[in-house]
Amino acid sequence: MHVTLRQLEAFTAVANHLSFTRAAEQLNLSQPAVSMQIKQLESQLGQALFEQMGKKIHLTESGHEVRKFARSILQQVDDMETALTSLSGLERGTLSISVATTAHYFAPKLLKIFCERYPGVNVKLDVTNREQLVSQLENNIVDMVIMGRPPENVDVESGAFMENPLVLIAPADHPFTREKSIQLKRLANEVFLVREVGSGTRKAMELFFTQHNIPMIMGMEVSSDEAIKRSVQAGLGLGIMSRDAIQNELQLNLLSAPDVLHFPIMRHWYVMHRKGKRLSPIAQAFKDFLLQEAAGILNKEPTLRDAAQLQTPQMPPLKAPTPSAANNKYAPARPKYVLTGPDGKPIPPAPRK
Ligand code: PGA
Repeated sequence: MHVTLRQLEAFTAVANHLSFTRAAEQLNLSQPAVSMQIKQLESQLGQALFEQMGKKIHLTESGHEVRKFARSILQQVDDMETALTSLSGLERGTLSISVATTAHYFAPKLLKIFCERYPGVNVKLDVTNREQLVSQLENNIVDMVIMGRPPENVDVESGAFMENPLVLIAPADHPFTREKSIQLKRLANEVFLVREVGSGTRKAMELFFTQHNIPMIMGMEVSSDEAIKRSVQAGLGLGIMSRDAIQNELQLNLLSAPDVLHFPIMRHWYVMHRKGKRLSPIAQAFKDFLLQEAAGILNKEPTLRDAAQLQTPQMPPLKAPTPSAANNKYAPARPKYVLTGPDGKPIPPAPRK
């Protein structure tokens, strides 16, 4: 059976007006063309749909039945067209993005503004490390990704939208907080807590130590920025982290960002997707929003990106430690135990030079 939408449209018009002439006018067709559509429909269905009584036409019982279905079919086609039209606009749709673990400190603030602007948009946000993000890009399973640096081995279109300075983080009472322009080589005596293999921050940190030819004493490996911050606060070692991740702690003086030469390690936040990907209008709007507005929005909030600058340089110098406090002074903890890595194997403590 090959019932067409055209036939159903012609049938519905005739059934509504009970007149071929008026149906033809409504459809902008000739009357014989309308009659032809109805004849073809009747022959497809094997039933008469209209009957003529005198000068008037009436729906047969089958005609009444077909009318119900025709209405609902045409309504559904209409709904489909409306849905597609709104999808091709900005009223509705799903934005599926994945962000680096460290980017989750600012991404929600941007999403809030974007969603207020486009209230019909549904957001799917995945937070994971750089390695996972690269694999998501490779498999083209998200609209776009926010991370620290475009991958080398996947063909992507990327744009930097904001600076991402990595700073040294130390407990608030670390002796470094009383000094300025600390020589980089002094970091060789400190224990460093590191993120898991696969983290962009860890990669940047390792590269930095290698480039400056400073040996890194590796303490615990910790797979979350939050846990690293707590561990640094607890005195288990120092860390290197995106300034975006530590603003609350700096403001509350739970952590410090000592003034070490060659810091911050200057990186950028990038938005990226597979090269040649056809972005939905919503995804395109989000990408434009990031590239054009994100830095301005986040930099405007003093509590967001300026907090690190409120630290060491402007902080009044701490009082010199009293003898008893000096005995009790901060000493980088040698890891007495190790965490297990993602492969379940214990991570041995690094030898101290
Ligand atoms: P990370 O990524 O959270 O995996 O360290 C940050 C980045 O890509 O720089």
